[in-house]
Amino acid sequence: MGCQMNVYDSGQILHRLAPIGYEATTDLTVADLIIVNTCAIRSKAEQKAFSFLGRLAALKEQNPKLIVAIGGCVAQQEGQKILSRMPHVDLVFGTHAIRRLPQLLQRVAAKRCRLVDVEMAQSLSPDDFTTGPHISSDVSAFVTIMRGCDNYCTYCVVPYVRGRESSRSPEEILSEIRQLAAQGVREVTLLGQNVNSYGLKEGHCTFAQLLAKINDVDGLARIRFTTSHPKDLSEELVECFGRIEKLCPHIHLPVQSGSDSVLKRMNRHYGHQHYLKKVRHLRQVRPDIAITSDIIVGFPGETNEDFEATLRLIEQVGFDGLFAFVYSDRPNAPAVRFDQKVGESLKKERLRRVLECQEQFNTKRCNQMVGRVYSVLVDGLSKHLSQTLEDTSSEESFPDAQWSGRTGTNKIVHFLHENPGQEKNQMLTGRILEIMIERAMPHSLWGRIFNTPLVSEGKGEDNYAA
Ligand code: 5AD
Ligand code: SF4
Repeated sequence: MGCQMNVYDSGQILHRLAPIGYEATTDLTVADLIIVNTCAIRSKAEQKAFSFLGRLAALKEQNPKLIVAIGGCVAQQEGQKILSRMPHVDLVFGTHAIRRLPQLLQRVAAKRCRLVDVEMAQSLSPDDFTTGPHISSDVSAFVTIMRGCDNYCTYCVVPYVRGRESSRSPEEILSEIRQLAAQGVREVTLLGQNVNSYGLKEGHCTFAQLLAKINDVDGLARIRFTTSHPKDLSEELVECFGRIEKLCPHIHLPVQSGSDSVLKRMNRHYGHQHYLKKVRHLRQVRPDIAITSDIIVGFPGETNEDFEATLRLIEQVGFDGLFAFVYSDRPNAPAVRFDQKVGESLKKERLRRVLECQEQFNTKRCNQMVGRVYSVLVDGLSKHLSQTLEDTSSEESFPDAQWSGRTGTNKIVHFLHENPGQEKNQMLTGRILEIMIERAMPHSLWGRIFNTPLVSEGKGEDNYAA
């Protein structure tokens, strides 16, 4: 459950459990061990984790040997309390306990005891970043470059459940990316709570220098990263969008609010003017850059004027996409103790207005793309079609196969291409094609391959040449 960091951690968990004899299954009823990797960012995510865990009690009754473990941010936050609240849970392990998981599980299995390990380290060791097989498509993979956060935004639980910021060395990151590229991965997304402070504590290179090194990895076509904090989005990093050729023209730059007084109480260390200045600089360096953001509505004390300032900022920037959330109290985060809480119905109303305000830009951006040609990294056949192919044993050809991929600006594009049949259904996957956008639907873009005849042996990036 939760963010990309959790997806990455789940990959690590699988990797660490293989040597002690576990393998993954998607069937809960045959599992010997169920691990729930949880998210605590908002109260809804936490409720979802507990409701899923609650449903596992019935399985445990049927199979008393089943081990139920809970990891991730809710485990870190609640610790021992989970064991009292949920008698069918055997193990609670925190965000820094992943590398101890094999021993913990062996102890639980051998002694049939219940354990909690939520110990947090001041800084992480290389072993805490060790990765196994990635859970991602073959084309694109996440790579964690740092963990934790030192920013202490007053609404946020992350510094308390993920601990202090800690960066991985450039050598380890590069070696992981080279390995991925050798396996055919074309795109990496570098993960960290605030990539701008990458390596500062440890004295590694800067994030911009890291990007330059990754740019040199053979076989890799695209680099993305998330997330960047507006307070210290450096000029050096902005300039990267103009000079690092594999860096995709997309930045996720969470603004949270357009009101300076709310931003101050959120402890964000910037005002709306600073944010707009960064946006202008980014667009100057890379005019086609897509900018997406996060907004929280209903932060304690948010007045109508504060909220109007947020709407104004959304209008001024014209984001390519927006994730909007209603504020929710998190244990440990200082805003829990702030007064003037905003009522639930007003928060919902503000959320509706933010989404409505953004909708015009979603439509405008998609419509602007029609008639233009974009480089699209092909993810593969669209889902329902790959299923049809798996169910078909013959080499039967479907005349209109539906493929999908992403533009550098991270927009999903569908296109039709002759279906090569079951054996060769991976043929276009991982290629970068020039696609002419023909139609913009409310939630998808449709295009066609633009003047790019297939050639059998490709040089460099693609097997397609214009
Ligand atoms: N309530 C609502 N939204 C939150 N976020 C983080 N903490 C909270 C909270 N307590 C949002 C922020 C952040 C995104 C990942 O989640 O917008 O950028
Ligand atoms: Fe949370 Fe702020 Fe850190 Fe992001 S930068 S993880 S919002 S404390």
